This record gives sequence, C-alpha cells and structure tokens, in this order.
Amino acid sequence: MPYERKVIDIGAIQAQQDICSQIFDKVTADGRRPLAMVDTYGCQQNEADSEKLRGYLAMMGYGFTQDEFQADVIVVNTCAVREHAEMRVLGNVGALNHSKKARPGQIIAVCGCMVQQEHMAQKLKQSYPVVDLVFGPHELWRFPELLLQVMTKHKRVFATEKNDGVVAEGIPNKRDSGVKAWLSIMYGCNNFCSYCVVPYVRGRERSRRPEDVVAEAKELVAAGYKEITLLGQNVNSYGRDLGLDVDFSDLIRMINDIPGDFLIRFMTSHPKDATEKLFKTMAECEKCAHQLHLPVQAGNDRILKVMNRGYTSEKYLAQVALARKYMPDLVLTTDIIVGFPNESEEEFEDTIKLVEQVRYDAMFTFIYSKRVGTPAAAMPDPYTREDKQRHFDRLTEVANRISGEKHKEYEGKTLRVLVDGETGRDEYNLSSRTNGGRLVHLKGDKALIGRFVDVKITASNTWALYGEVVK
Ligand code: 5AD
Ligand code: SF4
Repeated sequence: MPYERKVIDIGAIQAQQDICSQIFDKVTADGRRPLAMVDTYGCQQNEADSEKLRGYLAMMGYGFTQDEFQADVIVVNTCAVREHAEMRVLGNVGALNHSKKARPGQIIAVCGCMVQQEHMAQKLKQSYPVVDLVFGPHELWRFPELLLQVMTKHKRVFATEKNDGVVAEGIPNKRDSGVKAWLSIMYGCNNFCSYCVVPYVRGRERSRRPEDVVAEAKELVAAGYKEITLLGQNVNSYGRDLGLDVDFSDLIRMINDIPGDFLIRFMTSHPKDATEKLFKTMAECEKCAHQLHLPVQAGNDRILKVMNRGYTSEKYLAQVALARKYMPDLVLTTDIIVGFPNESEEEFEDTIKLVEQVRYDAMFTFIYSKRVGTPAAAMPDPYTREDKQRHFDRLTEVANRISGEKHKEYEGKTLRVLVDGETGRDEYNLSSRTNGGRLVHLKGDKALIGRFVDVKITASNTWALYGEVVK
C-alpha cells in the first residue's frame, strides 16, 4: 500500500507546548523544582528522540537527574533491535518498583521501539503495573498530552496503535552536549531486511523537508555546535518521498554552504543506495567528514540474499573501492551479524575474508537475535548458541587486530581534532575525535572543549589514539 506522508500540523505542536505550560503550573505550584530522569537505550536516533523528550520536560519546568530516587517523572526510551536490550529494559523497569515505593506519585513512562511491538505493550500492561504510561515512537510528539492524562485521570495510559509514522516539526530540543549535535533528517525504514524489526516499529521512510533541516543546522551552527551528525536509518534514500528533486548529496551541499567552522557527519548509509555522487560530494565538501558507516552485515552472497540486503559482496567491495578512490583517507566502519539462521562455517568464513579485504577502522559485531514477526524468525537454524559465540569471538579478534593495526598507522602523525569532553581521568583528561571520527585522548586545559586543535599522535591501542596538543 502506498504510504501517505503524514505531517503533524505546527498548530498541533503549539497545542502540546501549551499543555507543557499547564503542567508547569501544576508541578511547580509548591515552589519546588520537580525532577525528571530520561534513560535511553539503543541507537543515536533514540538519543535524538530523548533530547526531544527532555525539551518538552524542560518546558514543563522539570530539572534533570540520573537518580531514580530523586525523579518525579521517569521516561525509559527503549530499543527493540536485539533481545539483550529488551531484557535490560525489562529488568530495569521492574527494579523501579523500589523508587516508586520510596516516592509515591512518581510517574513512570516507557516509550520507544520496544513498546511499539504489540506483545511488549501487552507484557507491560499485564506484568508491570509500576508503569503508568506507554507510548510508541509515533506518539512522541504528543508526550505532554499523554503525561497530562496520567496526571489528571490517575489511570494508566497506553498509546501504541499501529502507525506508518509521522513527521513533526517544532518539538523543543534539549541537547546533551554543546559541541556535538544529532540532527534527524528522516525517520523510518522501507528496507525490511529479513532479521530487522525497525521497519515494523519505526514505520515507513519519511524525510524532513530540506528547508527545515537546513534551518535547524543553521541554528546549531549559530549556537556554537562544531559537529552535526545527520541521522536516518538509511540516509542515502533521503528525499525520495518528498518529490522535490533534492537527494542526500544535495542536502550535504546545502549544509556545507552554511558559513562557519564545523563538521558534518552522517549515519547510517545502506550500501544498496550509496552512490558515486555521494562519495564525490563528501570529497568536495570541506566540512563533510571523510567517514562512512557502511553496514555490510555478512560477507556471503547467499546470506546477503536471504537477509534481503539488495547487494552482493562484489558490489559492496566495488563501492568501498570507489569511496576510497574519492577519499583515500576515508575512515570506514561497519555492522556485522554473526549466526544468521543457517549460516554455515564456510559462509561465516566469507565474512572473515571480506573483513580482511576491506580492513575496517572499527566494526560493530552482533550475534543474531530472533525478532518477533520478522521473516528470519521463521527460518530453520541448526546451529547452536556455542557455534555462534565461537564465530563471534573469532570475528571480534580479527576486527580488533585490524583496528589496532590501523590505529598504529596514526602514530607520529599530526591531525586536526575536535575536543568534545572530559574523560574523568588525570593523565589523559580530554577526549576528542579526528575528522574520520576516531577517538583521541589528550592532556590539556578544559577550555579546549569545543575547539579544533592540532594534535600529534603518540600512542594507540585497539580502541583509541593518544596524543599531545601541538602548540
Ligand atoms: N540481530 C542482531 N543484530 C541486528 N541488527 C539489526 N537487527 C538485528 C538482529 N535481529 C544489527 C544490524 C544493524 C545494527 C543497528 O543492528 O547489524 O546494522
Ligand atoms: Fe533494519 Fe535493514 Fe532498515 Fe537498517 S536498513 S533499519 S538493518 S531494515
């Protein structure tokens, strides 16, 4: 069925902001500053969503805490990509019984991808009476209204109906960092990789209008942000649903044209949709980082086909070669799933071969996790958890060795990095990132945070580089 792009009217968001004022009057009436805790699981998109939840909560008058025993409102923003994250959420939500007992009146909300699955919403309804409010990703824009319902009606509220998704502009945003910002450019996914739950919980692909994205990027630059990461499940298909003749490469150029000293990063790129135009644009736009997260998922063509990825290992390797032709200094990272149903020893070996060939700067490796309702969940699988763990360990070993070797090549070089925060340690007290996104630990004055500096790399290991600021 064709998807009709559903845009939330700006007046509707204004109405939500009015509800924030109503809640403000209610919760600050006794002169005390109420506190909220927002706990986030999963990907950067969820981090970005949590910044919106905090934006609304700040408007309602809440300050923020990490201590559940201090919080008047707790929002748990969940992930559904793997079972492990869901188990952690359920364990932690269950444990909130203690804080709620200690603080009667505490409101507990659970939102995000996990609860957009029918069986999970049911589970919370039946087995977690501590939870007052449950809402899926498509209802985030009306969080104030849902929270007010809980406050005034004193009953549990569930908002997780099936939905293809919406686009909402004008939700306030309270960002975590003053240096690095997430900027969602699109939502949802149309790819239906056979193992993945995302298209079911985040709905169809829908892009924000380029003028809205550019306006937000301009605000970020004006506010002093030095790094903007454009977010989408598949940024390479940006704009397809808009019919405006603006694709992702065009969008990068528009943001690159904003005056100021800042870096543009983006994720995630689907290999089937990455184009030569994108690599050329990245190479030509001086603010665009030479960094590409290009999840390959597997190195074997039969597995790629059953995963419904839309490319072969040969096509993937050709893309990597093309990207590196345009950007010889490209930092390349990937995601890989080990133990997809019926993945044989030989098929797994193809993944090792591909990894040895590409030599990623860093890899995110996962053991396949069965997701309710996905095609892969119905595929037979004779392999045991031990087989999968063995493959996983082997792949991790190869990935770590290559990362270590790649990091070693930086030693002795001088690079421009963006200092983004403190590490909390004495010897190397600052953290920073290279243009390609590699982590560099430094020693230096806190005043360097938010600045680009030149550093000489003096040491390295698998996970990070270490350097000295060049005066
Ligand atoms: N099991 C394991 N890993 C998964 N991913 C997505 N779905 C699953 C699953 N069912 C991984 C993919 C994706 C990353 C975000 O999570 O590698 O790129
Ligand atoms: Fe999931 Fe595939 Fe969409 Fe990524 S592209 S979110 S792996 S369905």
